[in-house]
Amino acid sequence: MTIHAGIVGVGSKVPDKVLTNADLEKMVDTSDEWITARTGIKERRLTDYETATSDLAYEAAQKALEHAKVAPEEIDCIAIGTSSPDTLFPSVGCILQDKLGATNAAAFDVSAACSGFNYGLAVASALIESGQYKCVLLVGADTLTKYIDFKDRNTCILFGDGAGAVVLKPFIDGSGILANHLAAEGAGGKHLVMPGGGSRDPELRKSRYMSMDGKEVFKFAVRALETSVQKVLDKSGFKIEDVDLLIPHQANVRIINHALKKLRLPKEKVYVNLQKYGNTSAASVPIALDEALSEGRIKKGDVIVLSGFGAGLTYGANLIKWSV
Ligand code: UT7
Repeated sequence: MTIHAGIVGVGSKVPDKVLTNADLEKMVDTSDEWITARTGIKERRLTDYETATSDLAYEAAQKALEHAKVAPEEIDCIAIGTSSPDTLFPSVGCILQDKLGATNAAAFDVSAACSGFNYGLAVASALIESGQYKCVLLVGADTLTKYIDFKDRNTCILFGDGAGAVVLKPFIDGSGILANHLAAEGAGGKHLVMPGGGSRDPELRKSRYMSMDGKEVFKFAVRALETSVQKVLDKSGFKIEDVDLLIPHQANVRIINHALKKLRLPKEKVYVNLQKYGNTSAASVPIALDEALSEGRIKKGDVIVLSGFGAGLTYGANLIKWSV
């Protein structure tokens, strides 16, 4: 009897405030035409000053719990992929545990930037497969726009805020997360950095904003997306033709298209919603998963591949045979 972790509930939340490409034209030397052609992004959502990552995570988690028909007390463990925690400590996981009243849950954050949800899924899956936990809440949530210099056109056009959540339970019918692949290229860490607040630079004033070498990250991202998908196919024994839907990290449509060409996967089998939200970091994959599910793009038995890449540099993927 092999146990796999299956997803039984999904939910997401994005802030109401919309920042369009036309709005950005008034802030930096850019154009809707350039942003659309180079990234595919048309608009993104921004949190207000008072809203923090745990607030978005809470709303996404509540929806996922409702969808799964799971009460907060039933949760054994909460894991949150985030790189924009409310505070360095306590973790967003612990803040969320309190907000939800999930008094029986262990709680922690997963620090793998935009790969945080896929890293978290692999960890949650192992905790369930081992028999340690029967119900895990996993959230991907970020408010990276708070760390962006809105005078830097290299980064401010790309990012948005949001949260997505899933509830995982054990399955013994051959469905669930069947394979994952996690990887890191620490040597490339310098290409995407948020130094403020870290112990290397505790004075936030010196380096409050993220910095990015877009070209280097782009090359890495195409390679990471292709490799991670290929690895989970190899590990699970499925072929690219068996994949019903690929949900990649929503960073740039050109990254997705380059990887698809290499993987020989048709565009109809890929879910893209980055035009509406930009890059929401660890939240992008679970938000896209939630929307794909609501649109009827996923049904029981489907083979779904989730893939993420980001600062670290990190990347990872999970192959799921959909359980419910
Ligand atoms: O989760 C991972 C997060 N990060 C990423 O996914 C980022 C990956 N990288 C990218 O998505 C792309 O590299 C960018 C969208 C950031 C940039 O696109 P690019 O096609 O690599 O542009 P580029 O940096 O090669 O710049 C081309 C030109 C330059 O002008 P010149 O030197 O050719 O005259 C830039 O100065 O476009 C200029 N440019 C802009 N123009 C208008 C750069 N940013 C902008 C802008 N608006 N926002």
